[in-house]
Amino acid sequence: MQLYKKVEQFVVDAFTKAEKSTDVFHAQRTAYWITQLKPDADEALQIAGFAHDIERAFYGDWKKGSSDADALRKHQDMSAAEITKFLRAEHASEELIDRVSYLVAHHEEGGDVDQTVLCDADCLAYFEEKAVRNAKEKKQQGKNAEMIKKIDYVFSRIASSKAREIARPFYDEAMHILRD
Ligand SMILES: [Fe+2]
Ligand SMILES: [Fe+2]
Repeated sequence: MQLYKKVEQFVVDAFTKAEKSTDVFHAQRTAYWITQLKPDADEALQIAGFAHDIERAFYGDWKKGSSDADALRKHQDMSAAEITKFLRAEHASEELIDRVSYLVAHHEEGGDVDQTVLCDADCLAYFEEKAVRNAKEKKQQGKNAEMIKKIDYVFSRIASSKAREIARPFYDEAMHILRD
């Protein structure tokens, strides 16, 4: 089996076992947005896209959507460590492992071209699947201000104008709900 397919299987199985089907969907959508933002994405970027949040399958929701810098650092490092372990067991090349680990370890902030594609794809997956739903939930709980901050934070992470354009309608709808 092709390595990417094995990674897909590993991530889907891990999240399914953890009863986190929304995370399976998030991984699939992040991978999809990578193909839209960078059609010639290499294997390392594709793998990083599918596996970027893998620690959540093993350690649960300890971070609870927090954008605290220390929590994000830990989340990225833990995910990088988990996918590294898997790729080592599959005897992937050290070069590929280093690249995947480097990408996953910076997926929340972007950086070089591929890290930024991954970060933008992650944000798009968030906007299309979670922003509006979470906005409705938080509004019911009276947590509008907290959610506005979160949505602004995720939107501010998007670097490319193409990705911002795609995210904009979801951003506007969520903000409309929260400010209504
Ligand atoms: Fe993440
Ligand atoms: Fe993510």
